[in-house]
Amino acid sequence: MEKREQLYAGKAKSVFTTDDPNLLILHFRDDTSAFDGEKMEQLARKGRVNNQFNAFIMEKLAAAGVPTHFERLLNQDEVLVKRLTMIPVECVVRNFAAGSLVRRLGVEEGKELDPPTFEFFLKNDALHDPMVNEYHIRAFGWASDSEVAQMKAYSFKVNEVLRQLFGAAGMLLVDFKLEFGLFQGEVVLGDEFSPDGCRLWDADTRKKLDKDRFRQGLGGVVEAYEEVAARLGVTID
Ligand code: TMP
Repeated sequence: MEKREQLYAGKAKSVFTTDDPNLLILHFRDDTSAFDGEKMEQLARKGRVNNQFNAFIMEKLAAAGVPTHFERLLNQDEVLVKRLTMIPVECVVRNFAAGSLVRRLGVEEGKELDPPTFEFFLKNDALHDPMVNEYHIRAFGWASDSEVAQMKAYSFKVNEVLRQLFGAAGMLLVDFKLEFGLFQGEVVLGDEFSPDGCRLWDADTRKKLDKDRFRQGLGGVVEAYEEVAARLGVTID
């Protein structure tokens, strides 16, 4: 596998082409951003922790029947993935109220949501990822109705698998964000699943173990991510 040129640099990952047109390399950097890039810092080890943690989660999801772009880990901070045509929406599932839901609806942080909720957001930093619905997705041609249905079904399947996985390790999966793309016409999970894109609380103390530590300036960000990995038995090189 030959790494070729950089295709794109996002806020936390850089994407490289390879000698295979169907495969890309994702490089997880230590850059950490919040509030759509307004707050940016480098946190030592974060790239490798998220890369190796994401590989573990993607393998669990694939085993549970969710197709993912993950091919194989290449090294500490790089992974080989399928090249997807990304669908420009973010899929958010929530089990407990937090973050923008609390701000939008004025509900109490930590209230359990039964049943869990699902929201779409347009992936657009300049517009601060506005919430959109299925009609917007259809009208602007971002995805077809069947792709929308597939993204929702996979998001809830991910919730089922990961709520159980984190629950067994003493953590509450509060909410998370997924991004999907198309590979040979099929909807496939892309991007990453890591504490950068979800909320995880200790089940007993409700201590935050995710990127809210960075957003809220609580400190111990990467230490918390490493604790999450250790609780799941993921060793980080
Ligand atoms: P929110 O409460 O800010 O809407 O976020 C819900 C979840 O989605 C939370 O776990 C953070 C994650 N998320 C991202 O990872 N990136 C984003 O751009 C957004 C809007 C949310």
